[in-house]
Formats: sequence, structure tokens, C-alpha cells
Amino acid sequence: MPYTFPKSAELFARAQNSIAAGINSGIRKMEVPVPLYFDHGKGSRLFDVDGNEYIDFQIGQGAILYGHAPEGMANAIAEQAKKGTHWAAQSVLEIEVAERLQAMIPGADLVRFNNSATEVVLSALRLARAHTGRRLILKFEGHYHGWADEGLVGFAPPPDQWGSEDEPTRLHPSKGVIPEVLEQFVVARWNDPAHLRQRVDQYRGQIAAIIFEPVLCNTGCMVPVPGMIETIRELCDRDGMLMIADETITGFRFGAGCAQKHLGFVPDLTILGKAIGGGVPFAALVGKKEAFAKIISGEVVHAGTLNANPLCLAAAKWCLDEVIALGDSHPANAIRLGNKLMAGLRALADQHGIPLRPQGPGLVFHCAVLKAGAAEGPITSYRDYVQRHDAPRWATIRRALLEEGVRAIERGLWFISLAHTDADIDEALEKAARAFARLG
Ligand SMILES: Cc1ncc(COP(=O)(O)O)c(C=O)c1O
Repeated sequence: MPYTFPKSAELFARAQNSIAAGINSGIRKMEVPVPLYFDHGKGSRLFDVDGNEYIDFQIGQGAILYGHAPEGMANAIAEQAKKGTHWAAQSVLEIEVAERLQAMIPGADLVRFNNSATEVVLSALRLARAHTGRRLILKFEGHYHGWADEGLVGFAPPPDQWGSEDEPTRLHPSKGVIPEVLEQFVVARWNDPAHLRQRVDQYRGQIAAIIFEPVLCNTGCMVPVPGMIETIRELCDRDGMLMIADETITGFRFGAGCAQKHLGFVPDLTILGKAIGGGVPFAALVGKKEAFAKIISGEVVHAGTLNANPLCLAAAKWCLDEVIALGDSHPANAIRLGNKLMAGLRALADQHGIPLRPQGPGLVFHCAVLKAGAAEGPITSYRDYVQRHDAPRWATIRRALLEEGVRAIERGLWFISLAHTDADIDEALEKAARAFARLG
């Protein structure tokens, strides 16, 4: 029998009276038929208040790389809590975590900590402006860099407002944004190196940094086309701009060296969030020593009461040690499991006449649903995605999967955690078969 969610529905109705719109992050409202309330999780599994068990591929929007409630992490946090939850001062732990990051990540000479990747993005952009004495930041359509005014410029413009191919719009999806913020950005289309070159030349000498998701995971799931990352590096070197890799999703998911090691590039600054803390509020800016000069000199303000909080550091130290201990088996095993799940979902969808097209490097992937008459082949840019992906139909498929006990991300993304096994993938495919049969 498909799952039902009466207790979640009751709690969501109750929450309307005390929590604005009943949820605490906009995307959570997208969950249908109702935003779910969870009781506990273990490994690859989540259990909601109605007693439903899910194989979880949402994994805390990617943060739970190590599975739910790993015992070692729980112990590390509990032991630290007994010594103190917060000092707003220095600790050996912060050096231990920083030294691990230095050893793991190619572009990490130095480190600074924050509590969310949204904050780290703001730190990185401020630092880049101060470093170069320039005003503009170049970012790409469909790339997400946190919810602040500066992180969401040109993120998801509707087709009638996205501008020409040569001049993508700087539209922000939120009201209340300071209008002048938009003027500090140049937006380019992703995966078109010639177009990027043109955009940089148009504003030559005025751009402080290029910020990007090395594998675009916030709009579909798109690996960079050959030459894309190389062009960003080349233009940054040529014009003295900082290359800022936003590895909030890809960090540690692609192994100890993050996507930069996996893809073979060294950025000037890197943004780390999500998996660095395994689900606690922890994030880091890492980068080359020269890029940190204005923070070292004190000319750039970087602050935060809860920065380098010892509970978060204890969790992060445990997480990084887990990744280091896996050696070369990570990300190889996550890629293998993800590829198996992608192939299985595609085969089942084909059997039931559902035009589902899983796409991505396995350890993270996205399920596009082709609109009627849409062309086949990889989706490579934001505009291509909007034109070919049937988002409402995906929402129906996601709901059917949820009702069978498989939880993917509302927007179509799936994450493989280090807790997922072959047995989880096999079981998820059995459940997907039931969901697709019902849809058929
Ligand atoms: C690539 C990227 N950058 C930045 C952020 C912001 O992270 P947070 O929500 O933890 O502040 C996100 C969140 O999803 C992200 O995916």
C-alpha cells in the first residue's frame, strides 16, 4: 500500500500558527503532498512521524554524506558538548580541522570558518573585490550560491525575462533585494567557453572574480564541457581575476580533494559547506595565501560569533577523518552505486513509457523528464534545461516514489551517501518499479 502522511499533515497545519508559512526554508514547501516531519534516521534510512521508512537520497540536501546519525559523529559531538558548546575563542580543534583541509584540498593554503555556505560566499566575494580593487563578479545562469542578495543573481530567470544569448539577465528571484546589488554582477551562460570569453572581454579590467559550481548541481546536473574549467582558469590568470569554486555540494562528495582534484584544477578560493560538517552548521573558505592577504592584513572584515564553534569542529574533524580513511575507494564506490541506480531507473521508466532521463556523474545525478517532443541528449545549460525538462511531471513522479519509500530531492536531484549499499539500490529500484507501475 502506498504511504500516507496524516500526522505530517496535522503537524504542518499546526505549524501555520507559529512558523511563517509552516516551514523554515523555502524549498521545503515544495514537498508534496505535504512537507514531511521526521522522527529519526539511521544510515541510509529516514523514518517519519507516520512510521514510514524511506531510503533517503535527499540526505539533508547533500549534507549527510556519512549517512544519518553515525555513531562516531554523535560521540564526537557529545564529548565536546560536555567540555563546552561555545567559546567564541581559539581551540586546538580549529587548527586540527584547518590542517586536514590543507592536506586534502589542492587549493587550500589557508582557511577561515563560517556557519553556512551562504556566509562563505559573501566572504569570498568581499575578499575578491578587495583583492583586485574591482567591482564586478561574473557568475553563471542556473548556478546557486546561497540565498543572500549576492548569491542568487541570474539564478533562475523565466524564459520571457532571461535576456538574449549574448546578454543574460541579472534578474534576482526575490523581492526586497537591494537593486544596486544586481549591477555588481555579470551573468554568463554555463558550458559555453566562447561566450564566457566574450563576456569577460566586454567587461575587461572590471571583473574581480568568476564564481561557479564545478559540477552544476542546482539546475539539473551538468558536468563542465571540455574546455570550460580551463577557460575560467585561463581568463582569471590573464586578467588577474580570482577563480572561486563553489564546492558546497561537490566538496568531499568527489573524494578528499573535492571536485577540483577530481577534475584537475586549482582555484584561488573554494567555498565548502554541507558535507564538511555532515549536517551541523559548518562551512569554510579555503584558498591560496595571496588571496587571503586582505583578511590577514585586517583590511577585509571577516567575523561571526559562532565561527569555529567547537561542536561543529568536533563533527567536522570526524567527517574529514572518515573521508581520509576511505582513500581511493571514495568516490569510486559512490559513482558505481549511482550509475547502477541511474541505469535501473532509466530501464524501469522505459518499461512504463515514462521519459525519465537520469543525468550526472553517478554520486550525484538529476532525473529530467522530457517534455513532449523534446530532443534527446545531455542537457548542458540552464536554458536547455528549462526548455526540455517537465518539472510538474517530475513532481508527480517524485510523489509516487515517496509514497513507496524512496526520497529524492524536490527539484529532481539524487545524492549517494557513504552509507548507501548495493542492497539499498536494489530495494530502491523495486520500490521505483511499483511507483512507475502506478503512474503508468
Ligand atoms: C552550490 C551552493 N552554494 C551555496 C549554497 C548555500 O549553502 P547554505 O544553504 O548552507 O548556506 C548552496 C546550498 O544549497 C549550494 O548548493
